[in-house]
Amino acid sequence: MIKKVGVIGIGQMGAGIAQVSAQAGYSVIINDISDELLQRGIRGITKLLDKAIEKGKLDQAGKDKILANIKATTELAALSDCDIVIEAATENMAIKKEIFAELDKACKAEAIFATNTSSLPVGDLAASLKRRGQFVGLHFFNPVPVMKLVEVVKTLDTADETFKTAKTFAESIGKTTVSAKDTPGFVVNALLIPYLLDAIRQYENELATREDIDNAMVLGCGHPMGPLTLTDFIGLDTTLYIADIMYDEFKDSHYAAPPLLRRMVNAGYLGKKSGHGFYDYSK
Ligand code: 3HC
Repeated sequence: MIKKVGVIGIGQMGAGIAQVSAQAGYSVIINDISDELLQRGIRGITKLLDKAIEKGKLDQAGKDKILANIKATTELAALSDCDIVIEAATENMAIKKEIFAELDKACKAEAIFATNTSSLPVGDLAASLKRRGQFVGLHFFNPVPVMKLVEVVKTLDTADETFKTAKTFAESIGKTTVSAKDTPGFVVNALLIPYLLDAIRQYENELATREDIDNAMVLGCGHPMGPLTLTDFIGLDTTLYIADIMYDEFKDSHYAAPPLLRRMVNAGYLGKKSGHGFYDYSK
């Protein structure tokens, strides 16, 4: 039974996972490489809780309770008694493998490990661990407190019991799950990324303006954001990274990044987070 949740990496995704877990009453311990990053993550969570208070969706006591459920540490060894550890570190195979190798030694034998990777093969991350059967993908969506879905990814080695526990955990924090195989992009990104790449190709080939491409999908298909706005929101670098992994795996032009996307990433146009992507956010 899961009572204590570890979250590695307190960027946007990790902070969201920590928040929704703490809101559901779990005891959460967050880990990152510096106190500064940990404090920034907690400040971000506090800001969202304050917004919920402003909207009358939460009271001060509720906020205090959620924040009291979250402890922070820069030491991976401090996660030794967690029942599940969810890794949301940077999308880099070597870094993630290093984290899991250390956790494998530090954590109790029954603990389940999960990765929030959007695109790296989950089984590859587990391959050298003692507990490769107790390893799953739990892929959340941004913004985590809002998006209802979690993809639960089964590797060739994931034990049925582990899969079930991870799925039940995701449901216990208010998410709906879908089961996915350990293939690039799982279910959502395998559909979403080619769609975003096609929208960028339309823009690159001047078939329509960026506003018209976005409006077309918002008004014509009821999407909350058009594809170029969504790419800015996800990050052009993240979109390119996922596309490159899918292209490497399948060698299918469907997944080939348009030259414009690569040029923009190389020039530092990363989307909302850098202040400029397909749109200007500097103001
Ligand atoms: N964190 C937490 N909550 C947020 C938030 C954030 N970053 N942004 C918005 N919200 C909340 C707001 O507080 C508001 O809450 P309320 O209903 O309690 O008042 C609610 O979301 C709606 O927000 P807004 O009214 O400000 O704005 P919108 O109605 O335009 O919604 C949106 C914003 C939820 C981001 C919406 O535009 C949307 O759903 N966009 C699509 C997002 C999407 O597709 N995400 C998936 C990306 S793919 C991915 O993550 C996978 C990865 O592997 C690439």
